[in-house]
Amino acid sequence: MVKKQSGLLLRIWRCRNVFFPSAHVSVSLQPSLQIVVEMHILESLPVKLDSVVVDRVSAIWEHTGLRLDLDVIDAQHAWLVALVLELEWTLSHQEGSVPQRFHQIMQEAIRYTETHFKTEEALIKQFGFVEEHSHIKSHRKFNDILAQIYGERKINDWDGAQKLYRYLRKWLLQHIHIEDRKYADFFKRRKLNGQANAYLSEDAPLPDTTALQLRFLKLIQREVTLIEVTTPELLKDITSIWKRLNLATGIPILDIQHLWLIKIIVEVDEAMKESPLTREAVLARTINEAIRYVQVHFRTEEDLMRLLEFDDLENHLKMHRKFEQFVIGRKNELAAGKSRSAATIVHELREWLSSHIALQDRQMVASYRDHKDAVLDFSKNAISSGDADIFQPQISLYRTIVKQGN
Ligand SMILES: [Fe+2]
Ligand SMILES: [Fe+2]
Ligand SMILES: [Fe+2]
Repeated sequence: MVKKQSGLLLRIWRCRNVFFPSAHVSVSLQPSLQIVVEMHILESLPVKLDSVVVDRVSAIWEHTGLRLDLDVIDAQHAWLVALVLELEWTLSHQEGSVPQRFHQIMQEAIRYTETHFKTEEALIKQFGFVEEHSHIKSHRKFNDILAQIYGERKINDWDGAQKLYRYLRKWLLQHIHIEDRKYADFFKRRKLNGQANAYLSEDAPLPDTTALQLRFLKLIQREVTLIEVTTPELLKDITSIWKRLNLATGIPILDIQHLWLIKIIVEVDEAMKESPLTREAVLARTINEAIRYVQVHFRTEEDLMRLLEFDDLENHLKMHRKFEQFVIGRKNELAAGKSRSAATIVHELREWLSSHIALQDRQMVASYRDHKDAVLDFSKNAISSGDADIFQPQISLYRTIVKQGN
């Protein structure tokens, strides 16, 4: 039995200064790049979610088109998706028996589904949605089936719990995609979204926790918060790769970015063990994030090489371009539905990056030693301008790993 460890979650909102570890100076960010720590949303929600689950809800939300553009309804749906994924996470970390937590989350899911149906039914009634009756019927049918399967908490075996979770997930996603989208389209066609949102925020029957769930929605839609997640298990994997393959170059700005790339890969590797839905959403997001961060990193590294008048620049640039082409090629394969390549991509990304960092990037170290002050100035500029895309989460990760190494 694998015991679940609680996650370490860095919630970043707006903070003015970033502390650059090697330089021991604070640098101010451009106003548009400011971030501040938000401490309360997740602690206050009715069920405490694992930090990995929050990130996955966000990925699924982004990649499966669940958003209906009705704020309160979206917030309620996002919360239901979160509960379902928390069920998945709870089960996948305790194979063999049904943990008590599974039942707690189920109770909340049942309770919240009822209140969500109330809100939704009041909304479609209020605006005269033509398919109101069949929609309500579909809600009742779901309630009946759920009562039948779970009503007396008959589920005590792991397989039964798995089946129930899968049924919930399938029903919820299909219902939002097909049934709920029908009324969302009705509002859009009649240009009623503004009025519907006003009704939802002022008159509709709402659960007490709606304000929190609206903030949760913003969090997963990445509107107000840059959210970064790492769990002790992932941290252990990142540290192990970093040390075993001896990836530290000793040049802080590069080590920070390299560590972040390793973290991206380790996270997607971890997601490969989850359900296809989670896997695909996390992978789709991660490939985009990997491409973006690889490009940012290569730009920083190449600028630094020019500054250091690095001998092998031309050759190194070629390797970078080739790798960019490789990642973009894999992304296109994925988009074309070649899911076989998912695990291969993760493996190849990790292999290429670790051998490139360990062998090629390391060649810069000698010239760095003679130009430490120039590199420091360069790093301060690259961070404060936002060009190096280094913020508190990247620095926290670097500090954690480097500190552990000392
Ligand atoms: Fe519905
Ligand atoms: Fe590099
Ligand atoms: Fe490189």
